[in-house]
Amino acid sequence: MTFPHRHLLGIEPLGPAAISEILDLADSYVDLNRRDIKHADALAGLTQINMFFENSTRTQASFELAGKRLGADVMNMAMQASSIKKGETLIDTAMTLNAMHPDLLVVRHPHSGAVDLLAQKVNCAVLNAGDGRHEHPTQALLDALTIRRAKGRLHRLNIAICGDIAHSRVARSNILLLGKMENRIRLIGPPTLMPSGIADFGVEVYDDMRAGLDGVDVVMMLRLQRERMDGGFIPSEREYYHRFGLDSEKLGYAKDDAIVMHPGPMNRGVEIDGTLADDINRSVIQEQVEMGVAVRMAAMDLLARNLHSEPAGVMV
Ligand code: NCD
Repeated sequence: MTFPHRHLLGIEPLGPAAISEILDLADSYVDLNRRDIKHADALAGLTQINMFFENSTRTQASFELAGKRLGADVMNMAMQASSIKKGETLIDTAMTLNAMHPDLLVVRHPHSGAVDLLAQKVNCAVLNAGDGRHEHPTQALLDALTIRRAKGRLHRLNIAICGDIAHSRVARSNILLLGKMENRIRLIGPPTLMPSGIADFGVEVYDDMRAGLDGVDVVMMLRLQRERMDGGFIPSEREYYHRFGLDSEKLGYAKDDAIVMHPGPMNRGVEIDGTLADDINRSVIQEQVEMGVAVRMAAMDLLARNLHSEPAGVMV
């Protein structure tokens, strides 16, 4: 058991063994979280600071609960309301916090690459909770754990990722993770929401839901990220739902036991039919939320074990 990383900045630097190690440990935390008494002490005495420069409800709550269940002292900084507004740079904020000796820094930032930059300036372990369109590693890990538990394996599955791929860090981290674990990935969406050059990532690209969903094991829907669009990407929400929204008719093209996923927050009636999202026979959306806490506990536990190891033994 040697998780060789100092930070969790993305899926890109992780190998299949490190991914499996996080998921295996997370499985044990799922059991802990289902007990009446949910405390363990892997982070006892450590300080965790959550710095969210972008709005978040579920991810911040999930990291907060994960830290508290493992005994850390957890502090949430509402960065929108803080000194950033007074003109302080990201690095100055990081250096100020660094001087307070945190052990774990959980950071969400609207700019791709901002979290990597911050990690170079501080002495503690940094976890990326989503940076721009770049990566959202704990989301991909919780999706992987959900798939592994529902399907009994995390390789040689046909997985469709549907919708607004271009603006999605969730899609990017999932494409990396699911590819490393040797799955077949199909991306389905309108060409305007597909990143250019995406076929080079070893994925199949479709702009028709029925053709793309044919025979898949997993259907991962994405939120239409309107806050990242500057107009003109889709004709109208009604038209988008008609062509790309997941309903039971389109899901009928997937395997009979295919699962439906969504990272949340969802736009019911835009990318997914509300009744289908609530159908516990097909939808694992609530399981994804449950797995999120366990995966974040596992990731912080593994990083905490490397806090004081020699740089030679631990990669970034
Ligand atoms: C995702 C995100 O922030 O990237 N949501 C989340 O982590 N809860 C996906 C999204 O915002 O659509």
